[in-house]
Formats: sequence, structure tokens, C-alpha cells
Amino acid sequence: MTTQSINRDVEVLQRLSAGRFTCRAYQDTSVPREVIESIVTLAGRCASWCNVQPWHLVVTTPDTTAKFRDALVSHASGTSEVDSDIPFPEQYCGVYAERRREVAYRLYGALGIERSEKGRQAAQSFENFRMFGAPHVAIVTMSAELGAYAGIDCGAFIGAFMWAAQAHGVATTPQGALARHAKFIRSYFGIGDERKMVCGIAFGYADADHPANGFRTSRASLDDVMQLI
Ligand SMILES: Cc1cc2nc3c(=O)[nH]c(=O)nc-3n(C[C@H](O)[C@H](O)[C@H](O)COP(=O)(O)O)c2cc1C
Repeated sequence: MTTQSINRDVEVLQRLSAGRFTCRAYQDTSVPREVIESIVTLAGRCASWCNVQPWHLVVTTPDTTAKFRDALVSHASGTSEVDSDIPFPEQYCGVYAERRREVAYRLYGALGIERSEKGRQAAQSFENFRMFGAPHVAIVTMSAELGAYAGIDCGAFIGAFMWAAQAHGVATTPQGALARHAKFIRSYFGIGDERKMVCGIAFGYADADHPANGFRTSRASLDDVMQLI
């Protein structure tokens, strides 16, 4: 590879990395089938331990998404229980709690929701079950028998999916919130116990003018995340 082509590749990655964000409001426009197929094909080139590729996606088209949204909203309205296949964190402490709070406050700030307005905060959080109006959602599951490292493989896939989508101008929302209702969602889509639900990825074209999309998150410094020795 020449220095010039390396620089070009780095520039592309920098652009994709700077442009991607978690989208929380979508246009109705659906994503063409060939674009969805390209995203999943590109993401599938990511690495996995022993190349087992433990991920599988159920991807909805707009009519299916609309019916699923209604069913999920109705289900989630009736229970606040966590019914995930993979245990949720019991608590966030220290710097993790701070980072988590910062995202929430930036989102609420963008939407004009005060810190004291717990009802409006809960309503915004519930938007997860409407998948923020996205025309599509991918339900990401992994093989149950492969254990925790399959989850790591799926994480690599999910990251690659989001960058591939970004390259196609398609916005994404990784949604751990959907995994809260993993058993309901697997049953809804006829996915058996041999698979565990990892998360959802809502996707489509961003509603760029919506305030929920009007903020960006910060990152820890390089010193905080790397020790070069
Ligand atoms: C595995 C995973 C699950 C997530 N679950 C949710 C979710 O349920 N709802 C949500 O609004 N954002 C969710 N996010 C998005 C994160 O909040 C977001 O990635 C983080 O705040 C960094 O912001 P950015 O993606 O805009 O750069 C999730 C991200 C990941 C990687």
C-alpha cells in the first residue's frame, strides 16, 4: 500500500467515526434492500474467535417494524421487569456512573427536559420501545452454547454494522433496552432458546432537525484508555 492510499483510508475512517452517533429520531423513509444487504455483508467481515460468526439478525421492513413496535409498546407498558437473556449491569459506579449520567443529561438538555422532570425522562426512555420511529430494527442474537466470547464477537459485528451503515448514510441506534424484553422479543420472532438476544439495532435515515439528534457525546482521554509501555 502506498502512503497516499493509507492516508485516504485513514481519512475515510476518521470521517465515518466522527459522523456516527446514536440516532434517536428517524425519517419514515425505508432503506433499500440492497443497502441493508451491503451493510450486513460488510459487517460480517469483522473478526470472530475461530471465525465462528455467532451472530444472527432478524431485520424488519417497515410494515413488520410497525406491527412489532405496537406489540412491544403494549408489552413494555405492562411490565418494568428486566427479562434479558444476558444479565444487565446491577449498577454503574464511579467514572462509569459519571459517563452514563453525562449522556443522559446531554440528551435531556437537547430536548429541554429538566433534571427534576422524572416523568418526561421516563417518557423519553420509553421511546426505546418505539425504536425512536426507525423504519427498521435488527434483532441481534448469538449462539447460546458459545458463552461470553460470542458476545464479544457480536460486539465487533455491531460496531462494524454501525460504521458500514454510516458509510451508506444510514443512521443507527444500538439498543440494549430492547434486550430488557429478550424473552418476549424472541418469542415474537420465533427465535428459540438456543440463541440469546444481545441487543437491537434500530436504523434508517436520521431526522437531522430533531433535537434528540442535536447533541454529541464526549470520550475519555487517550491516557485514560491506553498505557503505552
Ligand atoms: C451495546 C449498546 C447498547 C446501547 N443501548 C442503548 C439503548 O438502549 N438506548 C439508547 O438510547 N442508546 C443506547 N446505546 C447508545 C449509547 O448510549 C451511545 O453509544 C453512547 O452514549 C455514545 O454515544 P454515541 O453512540 O452517540 O457516540 C447503546 C450502545 C451500545 C454499544
